Amino acid sequence: MPDINDIIKNRRSHFPKEFTGDILDEAILTQCLKNAHWAPSHKLTFPWRFTVLSGTLVQEFYDLASRDYVNHSDVVNPKKIEKLVMMASKTSHIIGIICTISDIVPKWEEQASCAMAVQNMYLTLSQFEHAGGYWSTGLRANKQAMRELFNCNSNEIHMGNFIMGHIASKREVAARPNYEKYALRKG
Ligand SMILES: Cc1cc2nc3c(=O)[nH]c(=O)nc-3n(C[C@H](O)[C@H](O)[C@H](O)COP(=O)(O)O)c2cc1C
Repeated sequence: MPDINDIIKNRRSHFPKEFTGDILDEAILTQCLKNAHWAPSHKLTFPWRFTVLSGTLVQEFYDLASRDYVNHSDVVNPKKIEKLVMMASKTSHIIGIICTISDIVPKWEEQASCAMAVQNMYLTLSQFEHAGGYWSTGLRANKQAMRELFNCNSNEIHMGNFIMGHIASKREVAARPNYEKYALRKG
């Protein structure tokens, strides 16, 4: 049984430039999605909804992000377009993260709950040596074009995407300062 402290500490974001371009086993995706569902939610609203894009839909997603960026920018940065082309060639799957806002609990609680579901996906990936991913809130998240792609209703927020790909191995360096952000108050 792996140690929970190690799992939390060793969780990493892996970015498209690290992806080999190989396609991930669908079983990895379904495990992530199943575990996401065990996140806590106030009043059990289960506010998350996920849409997985695979195959040609991955390229279509990046084409849309690129077109939408160009259409809504006064000045287009060609480096950004090049980066999207690179990302499209390396990404295996994209999980659209959609949060459904109820009128049962405050909006921030629904979003916090969705973030916990994403953390479950992150942690699930830790067990697969050759699977990596990261939460992206760039790539036109929640813009009209993406809202339409993911069929968002007016009470839904597109909270970005979990971008996934095959990696050669996990990175070990943690991007964390060498201090703890907590106070222990003893009475
Ligand atoms: C809400 C949220 C949004 C993020 N959005 C982006 C993003 O748009 N682009 C990006 O490169 N990384 C994004 N990240 C990933 C961070 O870059 C990453 O967590 C950070 O570099 C720390 O690395 P680690 O996850 O390996 O600890 C996001 C993370 C969170 C929690």
